[in-house]
Amino acid sequence: MLLPNFDIPVQREGTASLKFDGRQQVFGRADVNPLWVADMDFASPDCIQAAIAERNQHPVYGYSLLPDSFYQSVIDWFATRHHWQIKREWIVAAPGVVSSLHAACLAFAGEGEGVIIQPPVYHPFLGAIQKTRRQPLLNPLQAGVDGYRMDFQQLEILARDARLLMLCSPHNPVGRVWRRDELLQLLDIARRNKLYIISDDIHADLVFSESKHTMLAALGEGFEAYLAERVITAVSPNKSFNIPGLGLSCLIIPNAESRQKIQAAYDLIAANYANPLSLVAFTAAYQQGGEWLDALLKYLQGNRDFVFNKVQQGLPLLKVSRSEGTCLMWLDCRSLKLDDAALRDFMINTCGVGLSPGLQFGEQGSGFMRLNIGTRRERLAEALTAIEAGIKTL
Ligand SMILES: Cc1ncc(COP(=O)(O)O)c(C=O)c1O
Repeated sequence: MLLPNFDIPVQREGTASLKFDGRQQVFGRADVNPLWVADMDFASPDCIQAAIAERNQHPVYGYSLLPDSFYQSVIDWFATRHHWQIKREWIVAAPGVVSSLHAACLAFAGEGEGVIIQPPVYHPFLGAIQKTRRQPLLNPLQAGVDGYRMDFQQLEILARDARLLMLCSPHNPVGRVWRRDELLQLLDIARRNKLYIISDDIHADLVFSESKHTMLAALGEGFEAYLAERVITAVSPNKSFNIPGLGLSCLIIPNAESRQKIQAAYDLIAANYANPLSLVAFTAAYQQGGEWLDALLKYLQGNRDFVFNKVQQGLPLLKVSRSEGTCLMWLDCRSLKLDDAALRDFMINTCGVGLSPGLQFGEQGSGFMRLNIGTRRERLAEALTAIEAGIKTL
């Protein structure tokens, strides 16, 4: 494979890109450096482009079924990359992971019943609970000197009134990759309280070299029966291979009754799972994308280190997490002493940078901004230089 060059600019304007063409609507100006919504600016791997091109040789785009190759690609990917042996019947195709968060609320908690999330967290977690009229139970992450931690004491209390826990693993926006011991502690509480868990592992493949992702569902260690009965996992190649617009993911659900419940939730809105192009892209990613992904991870880790060092050296008023995974970094801007509206305005109008406001991920994100590092390093350098200059004007 010819190694991809992630420094090559890809013109995304004019492609109906939310990240680029949506800037006027989101930021009130079309010229901000867009480092917000979590898609990356890199061309997706050649194997995906080739698979779509080949499918395009055929002029009919009819309804699709899920071929054996779809299932096998999932089974092989998780066996090879995550040492997790998945059975074919556990795999349930789904449109997006966010849809599956909604489906899990419908399937595993009744109206008004409690669902635990750990903010600051990817905003559709709360959205799914609210839109399905379940009760959000918040277990905020605790910020320590060495990064964010789960609050197990509070979790123990909340679990008594909950039916479902939604885990973000790795965690968007703070970039934590949960360790085995942390996941075991979480499982212990969840099992004692008979919670269902949906583990959103969409970022499982975007993990940097010092960390190791653990699939909650594959932990074992005496939890096998509980994991098989009550834990479901959402996965997708969409983030790792930069094909989120194609919208195909899957759930891994070992328990037949849980599969039926999820299926029933999806049937409520007759959600159609796959289209001919998303299918071939999904399958090509998991079958052939490994080498490209390894190259991407090196580049992203370089971006992570670049931002971390630059903030430490040149932007003393900011602090930044040294993300362990994801393509996201969590900027602590509280020392700028701006309220959230003023911080947003400062980033947009003084610095010309389009970030995701921390408040979007819960009130625990007040004073923070989320930076998407899935872009050329040069673009990140421009943004940090602009923020440095902007701070001097405060
Ligand atoms: C944790 C997490 N889950 C889900 C999604 C979106 O998944 P999908 O596009 O498949 O709905 C994102 C996108 O940023 C995410 O960060």
